[in-house]
Amino acid sequence: MITIKSAREIEKMAASGAVLAGVHKGLRDIIKPGISSWEIERFANKYIEEHGATPSEKGFEGYKYATCVSVNDEVAHAIPRKELILKNGDIVKVDMTVNLDGFESDSCWTYAVGDISPEAKHLMDVTKKALYLGIDQAVVGNRIGDIGHAIQAYTEGQEHMGDVRELIGHGIQPTMHEQPNVPNYGEAGHGLRLRAGMTITIEPMINLGTWEIITKEVADKSWNYYATADGSLSAQYEHTLVITDDGPKILTSQDPEFDKDYLLS
Ligand code: MF3
Ligand code: CO
Ligand code: CO
Repeated sequence: MITIKSAREIEKMAASGAVLAGVHKGLRDIIKPGISSWEIERFANKYIEEHGATPSEKGFEGYKYATCVSVNDEVAHAIPRKELILKNGDIVKVDMTVNLDGFESDSCWTYAVGDISPEAKHLMDVTKKALYLGIDQAVVGNRIGDIGHAIQAYTEGQEHMGDVRELIGHGIQPTMHEQPNVPNYGEAGHGLRLRAGMTITIEPMINLGTWEIITKEVADKSWNYYATADGSLSAQYEHTLVITDDGPKILTSQDPEFDKDYLLS
């Protein structure tokens, strides 16, 4: 079922998204060569708790952590690890969901660790741009396929970039994952018609190589995560947004200047 949210519900989701964005803003100063990926988890837990919210990935389908911390060729859903020390030149994706007063938000960001290669920087730029091109299609009267098509057409127009297909965006609220599915590929003019009050995530994952990914198991076999099939780098950006009569509005913005055209008034 696809639910249309009231103005009050959207305000509550925006409050949840503001806590999540606060974690990401804090991580900008924390992520540097020499820290472990566990430091990211620790900071997120503390920040979320101090803001009266809960990390809703914890307990989701048996997942034990507030964050997914995926480094370099790890595409998504990797677990934070004390023994994983970030090195100069790495890129790290931090994906989390926050629940505040029963309202969910979901956002992933890619961070550069120290000085990264021009290729890695380009991958991050392309992936962020793909997200915003997708967001631009999230307007009343368009269809789900318009979002994925914009992401796919842009990515496939880049050299040596793969647009991951296996993992997709989704509706959000009352739970983390709701209908509709929001693929990062698709045909323009196809799929569900978008209406004001729908809340969705858009979350492209782009690889600096093949689009194909593989599943990996953590050591104790309790969890699966994803990595690129060819070992190439992967980036991801994700926002939670609401479709309105006044265009798409981002609920997890961490940069009001960059997002000025996408903020609730
Ligand atoms: N935040 C992820 C998403 O974008 C979901 C992570 S699932 C978890 O949909 F179990 F790893 F937390
Ligand atoms: Co997410
Ligand atoms: Co998501």
